[in-house]
Amino acid sequence: MTTEVKRVFSGIQPTGELHLGNYVGALSNWVKMQDEYDETIYCVVDLHAMTVPYDVEEFHAARLQTAKLLLAVGIDPDRSLLYYQSQVPQHAELAWILGTITGIGQLERMTQYKEKADKAGQNLGLFSYPVLMAADILVHRAHAVPVGDDQTQHLELTRDLVERFNHRFGEIFPLPERITPEIGARVMSLQDPTSKMSKSDPNPNSRILLVDDPDVIRKRIKSAVTDSETTVAYDWDRKPGISNLLEIFSFFSGRKIDDLVDEYAEGGYGRFKEAVAEAVIDGLTPIRTRYKQLDDAEVAHIMERGALDARARAERSMVEIRKAVGLAGY
Ligand code: AMP
Ligand code: TRP
Repeated sequence: MTTEVKRVFSGIQPTGELHLGNYVGALSNWVKMQDEYDETIYCVVDLHAMTVPYDVEEFHAARLQTAKLLLAVGIDPDRSLLYYQSQVPQHAELAWILGTITGIGQLERMTQYKEKADKAGQNLGLFSYPVLMAADILVHRAHAVPVGDDQTQHLELTRDLVERFNHRFGEIFPLPERITPEIGARVMSLQDPTSKMSKSDPNPNSRILLVDDPDVIRKRIKSAVTDSETTVAYDWDRKPGISNLLEIFSFFSGRKIDDLVDEYAEGGYGRFKEAVAEAVIDGLTPIRTRYKQLDDAEVAHIMERGALDARARAERSMVEIRKAVGLAGY
């Protein structure tokens, strides 16, 4: 199997709306990697989103909205493959095969499973979620996977499965590498800087959405929880709120954290927050503008085209995988 071509795969769930953490931690790399790799494949992982209770109509609308946002942030359908996971049944087929070499104990250790099962209740889909995620990556034999910090454990499981599979059935899969940004791999909640910014946080003030208006962005940053001191400093232990804002500021301004600390250390939190807000607004405005211009029917068409192409590619992999495990022919 050729490994000459360097391929990227990543996925995002169509639950709730995309936020700053998604963008800084993962999506900005998705966009950048379009210039750096031979093939980039991005997927709205709708099957994953079904593992917690959901409203059918909202879910269906969120799929399209997520696809639209991916286009708005800069995923270019002429350079990247973009599709809905459910439209490519080979993902689920490979997940079954990988499930047969996955240990129960290993799945029981997944922190995301424990957290979600505590909130949403246990189900088999939620439990085997990391196996489907491994299948997403491996059905495309991807080399690099841009994700936020919270996916580290899932990527480790994927790598274990690659080693186990290749050892048992032959060198079929490359070992995928996790790609996380140096700054902003874990953007924290604006209301509780010790927990990550999340789509499912009941408090909307905890996050900034990619399509939020400038006024909303200003308000959210202004009300971000910090500390009772007055000096801007980068210190995650003592000043997690300020450190989080510094990382966001650094990402959007393209400036070094030390530089920002030098400039804003003494001017008070108010002035600092205003500057952070303006940098975020400048960064998100083009995304919001493009989002508004996109036509639903056109996006649906792009997704349909993507599914066709993705099915053909995934099937080519599956032919080799089926052969390797003894499922080819009659
Ligand atoms: P999800 O919204 O859980 O489907 O996540 C989509 C992508 O965004 C994944 O690569 C996550 O690791 C990343 N991500 C989600 N929340 C954050 C966050 N607060 N900071 C950085 N990356 C994040
Ligand atoms: N589990 C990822 C998340 O919650 C989403 C995801 C599913 C994914 N399949 C993937 C990410 C494959 C990267 C590669 O964010």
